[in-house]
Amino acid sequence: MTSSTLAQQLREAKHVVVFTGAGASAESGIPTFRDALTGLWEHFDPAKLATSDAYRGDPALCWGWYEWRRQKVVRAQPNEAHRAIAEFAKRVPKLTLVTQNVDDLHERAGSQDVIHLHGSLHSPRCIDCGQAYTLPLTSDALPEDGSRIEPPQCSACGGYVRPGVVWFGEMLPEDAWSSGLAAAEKCDVFISIGTSGIVYPAAELPLRALGHGATVVHINPERFNISSREHFLQGQASVLMRGLLTEAFGDPLVTECFVE
Ligand code: OAD
Repeated sequence: MTSSTLAQQLREAKHVVVFTGAGASAESGIPTFRDALTGLWEHFDPAKLATSDAYRGDPALCWGWYEWRRQKVVRAQPNEAHRAIAEFAKRVPKLTLVTQNVDDLHERAGSQDVIHLHGSLHSPRCIDCGQAYTLPLTSDALPEDGSRIEPPQCSACGGYVRPGVVWFGEMLPEDAWSSGLAAAEKCDVFISIGTSGIVYPAAELPLRALGHGATVVHINPERFNISSREHFLQGQASVLMRGLLTEAFGDPLVTECFVE
């Protein structure tokens, strides 16, 4: 499929789903999970930091890792891909944005009602009683990756505060999953951006969309195997999403001038 065919389909679509993974935030400087890690974490499997057992075994190590990630997000800015997705939502009858990302860059680019399948770095809670905990948005210094930071304690029960993300072995938030699934099964066009597509159940969404007759397109700089019924646009999310927006709906700035 060429980008102009996809642009045509986007113009005609009644319901578009955009499904994002870590690659959508990569150009904002947020590291992905499975691209090569550098520095201290080169030989460390991040999955070992993302389980309840790991957290209980070494809370300071895990909290330090999540604080490092959270602080990187706080300092990052949305990129052209985030902004183009928010623009698309204004131009199609319905757009559902489903993300695996735990940052808030979609919201800060203007997207609303974002479905977070894997939770958020910004909604920590007590690991024992579940009470929400409010974290300051910024801190004085970006912790080093690998810093050990003692987690705060819950004011209700004294338990450790844990990040509000979904860890391996945990269920996805039920509402998020059912809304994401329903949208995938109803949409005409499903655009999957910057995900390796190997973490389930999230990775099931493109397949569900395909099974219900949607056009499914993957946007990624790295090619991977897809079925003959899916499509691939190879390149960076920012470039391809901005290009698609312009191809489908014209230059947003020019359009706004005409509306004036
Ligand atoms: P991955 O790190 O597995 O994959 C990131 C993908 O983004 C790769 O396929 C890259 O090729 C691609 N990519 C890199 N730069 C890009 C760019 N500029 N534009 C577009 N794509 C780019 O991240 P996810 O697929 O999101 O789970 O990982 C899925 C889940 O695994 C995460 O949500 C997380 C992790 O364990 C939880 O936290 C529960």
